[in-house]
Amino acid sequence: MTTLIKERAKSLNTFSKTNLAEEILRLKKEKNAIILAHYYQEPAIQEIADFVGDSLGLSQQAASTDADIIVFAGVHFMAETAKIINPKKRVLLPDLNASCSLAESCPPDLFREFIDKHPGHTVITYVNCSAEIKAMSDIVCTSSNAEKVVASVPLGTPIIFAPDKNLGAYIMHKTGREMLLWDGVCIVHEAFAIDKILKLHQKYPQAQFIAHPESNPEILKIASYIGSTTGMINHVKTDSGKEFIVATEAGILYKMQQEVPEKVLIPAPAKEDNTCACSECAFMKMNTMEKLYLCLKNETPEIHVSDEIREKAIIPIERMLNLS
Ligand code: 13P
Ligand code: SF4
Repeated sequence: MTTLIKERAKSLNTFSKTNLAEEILRLKKEKNAIILAHYYQEPAIQEIADFVGDSLGLSQQAASTDADIIVFAGVHFMAETAKIINPKKRVLLPDLNASCSLAESCPPDLFREFIDKHPGHTVITYVNCSAEIKAMSDIVCTSSNAEKVVASVPLGTPIIFAPDKNLGAYIMHKTGREMLLWDGVCIVHEAFAIDKILKLHQKYPQAQFIAHPESNPEILKIASYIGSTTGMINHVKTDSGKEFIVATEAGILYKMQQEVPEKVLIPAPAKEDNTCACSECAFMKMNTMEKLYLCLKNETPEIHVSDEIREKAIIPIERMLNLS
């Protein structure tokens, strides 16, 4: 056994004995670190986080923290956004492979060609994209503020919206603005099965169907509420309904159920049969308590963004934060 493998085995063995949560809390304090987690993270991570929220809330927290280290329990574009906002802080991501199908759908060279082919357009990008794409944008948005961001563009100015075509189509419908859409989708929200949802609704006829705007138009058509993850949580809290079928990544049900313990929350089923009868994001679920612990302990993997990209990408992000 090489020394490296021995060390790894020793360290994994220690995990089984160590209370990971306690160790993470200790390291967090010792290093003046903050843990920001998205609602799609596993419950143990949500429990230990300093803040759990949607993409906008997480960016706002990243902008206001005075911690020295930000550990991002989310996906790569989220940690990268935090780094762009905080170039002097160390931003860590427990697993650098935690990507996003939307971010991957939009390679910088092809997006550059797309913009060049359509001069004079205001470029609005959904935050689920790489720093390079943000650097080519006029303004960034999240699912919480996309409508507001689009409405902020003067009437008559043509708009490119990327990379989520479902969110883009939904915002076109809401605002009545024509936009050129990039052809990207979220593989998780694409996976909801309309036939199974309708069948489920027959079983729970009183249940309201609520959906995230990354879902397909046919899914959004039957939703009685459409909003970001935070929007969906607020909706079930404030609405008088007692039962909800929830079409977004199933991790949200943890926080949602804590907010409304007396209500019935049912995950919307995916097309493919799986054990949870729900939709899970394999990228989000790459983060684990073990990886979170190791990342905080070793201060790696770390997110880096070149100055050239950062200086361009911060402008559309700040425009969005100022508008929110
Ligand atoms: P929000 O939490 O901002 O609604 O985004 C959902 C999502 O898919 C994040 O990747
Ligand atoms: Fe990307 Fe969809 Fe996963 Fe969110 S749920 S990180 S949009 S693949």
